[in-house]
Amino acid sequence: MINTEKLRWGILGAARINQQLMPAIVAAKNSQLVAIASRRPNAAAETLALYAADEKNVRIFASPEELLDDDSIQAVYIPLASKEHAEWTLRAIARGKHVLCEKPMALTVADIEAIERAAADQQVQVMEGFMYRFHPQHLRVKEIIDAGLIGDVRTVRTSFSYLMQPARQYRINDSIENGSGAMWDIGCYAIHAARLPFYGQEPVAVTTMAKHINTGADISCNGILDFADGRYAQFDFGFEHARRAEYEIIGTKGGLKCHNVWAKAAETPVISWWTEAGEQQQETLALANHFQLEVEHFADCVLNNKQPALSLSDAKNNCKIIIATLESIKSARQIQIS
Ligand SMILES: NC(=O)c1ccc[n+]([C@@H]2O[C@H](COP(=O)([O-])OP(=O)(O)OC[C@H]3O[C@@H](n4cnc5c(N)ncnc54)[C@H](OP(=O)(O)O)[C@@H]3O)[C@@H](O)[C@H]2O)c1
Repeated sequence: MINTEKLRWGILGAARINQQLMPAIVAAKNSQLVAIASRRPNAAAETLALYAADEKNVRIFASPEELLDDDSIQAVYIPLASKEHAEWTLRAIARGKHVLCEKPMALTVADIEAIERAAADQQVQVMEGFMYRFHPQHLRVKEIIDAGLIGDVRTVRTSFSYLMQPARQYRINDSIENGSGAMWDIGCYAIHAARLPFYGQEPVAVTTMAKHINTGADISCNGILDFADGRYAQFDFGFEHARRAEYEIIGTKGGLKCHNVWAKAAETPVISWWTEAGEQQQETLALANHFQLEVEHFADCVLNNKQPALSLSDAKNNCKIIIATLESIKSARQIQIS
């Protein structure tokens, strides 16, 4: 029997990304926004007024700890700065909360392993918030590949970038080791999306180069993942380029391109594909809100005891590749990924 209960959500910080997630939780059919916390006076109330003004019964907490102490809250969304993700995910799990944590879930594989153990002990669900994966356009990509239209996947290219604006300089004011810079912000998408067309097969090695600024943050990066047997994924990302969020997949018989991986609810998703046989298609897909679909998926997993589509193994694999990528940048060598 389907559970018709609504999952009661608390948000652990007054972050900018709430502009997307807060309306998504409010709109999700199986969710209810019940609380938000911020360590800055008035910031939580201001965020609520901006993005969920019609929600009258949302409680405001002066600290994330107080929110976690409230037993009526079942799940938390963690939109804190990347370097705080692992710590607050662990604190939330310890209070018995289910956790949807923004990407990247952690800056080390060891932290994700600790999260995995804690979640198993507390019997709670935890998922890394790669919202893009909930957009139906990637299912259409899988259909095209599974139908054999482009043949066997041989090469993948992913590109994620935007031009850093002065108001967002705080994203690069610390070192890459502390979660600052392009790698943890958008590189994690470039690597995650590069793994998508290989359906569970992970890369065996990576070679990468990057430009850093004086804070130790990376702002431009190019790399190649080796998926063995001549199959490669090239990725590039950075803050010195025009906005792109796209991937291209080349197979033995043709290719396809997903033009807007970050397609928001009002942005028309477009996929184009071609075959050596001379077929060329540009498909316009239905609008979809991947933030809302992500929230509904996670709530469904919690309420009906299902495994989240994005597993902790997936989070560990992505983090492992990011760490190898950082090692490759530092050493200017190819790094094997075990
Ligand atoms: N899925 C997506 O599409 C997407 C998009 C953007 C970002 N993200 C991810 O979401 C996370 C948050 O990113 P964001 O850009 O939304 O972060 P942000 O606005 O910098 O907020 C992060 C945290 O920093 C604190 N904060 C915010 N503004 C502050 C200020 N002016 N002074 C001091 N502290 C401040 C807040 O905690 P308190 O309220 O407790 O002070 C907030 O929760 C990151 O991990 C990022 O990778 C995801």
